[in-house]
Amino acid sequence: MKTVVCPGSFDPITNGHLDIIQRASGIFDRVIVLVAANQEKHNFFTVQERVEMIRRVAEETGLSNVEVDSDSGLLVNYIQRVGAAAIVKGLRAVSDFEYEFQMSLTNHKLLPECETIFFTTSSRNMYLSSSIVRQVGQLGGDITGFVPPCVYEQIHKKLTTGQSQG
Ligand code: PNS
Repeated sequence: MKTVVCPGSFDPITNGHLDIIQRASGIFDRVIVLVAANQEKHNFFTVQERVEMIRRVAEETGLSNVEVDSDSGLLVNYIQRVGAAAIVKGLRAVSDFEYEFQMSLTNHKLLPECETIFFTTSSRNMYLSSSIVRQVGQLGGDITGFVPPCVYEQIHKKLTTGQSQG
């Protein structure tokens, strides 16, 4: 049974992330989407909110071999703990490459058996990122084409009430 982990900030999950998760779930037996800590970023949604949103998206998309988890430690420790065969990440453009390459090499150095598999993003999602979604949403732009419908509702709720659950 091949398990892979799709780590990220997912703040929030976009249609670009969902595309990568869907494609990974068609290839591997078990896909764990991991909301992981990125020390460089300030978060819009809490970890719990992001986990709930991704769970809902996976359920509504019918991705039965996809699980969602969160972790605040080193990714390689998580990979080892769950016995994952690889990390799966999406690559949009050349601008992603340097950062992703650096993380992949660091993870490999920390845990030599840790492989990273990159999926090239679908051309329709090349421009998409969570920060673009947050910026457009916060300035009142239309983000319906950027995120799954249930995420759109949560963003709208968060922007209007400061909360996304309930
Ligand atoms: O979506 P992001 O923010 O580009 O994802 C980056 C993430 C969360 C995958 C990365 O910061 C990460 O792996 N964090 C976990 C902590 C860790 O292991 N950091 C060292 C990575 S080389």
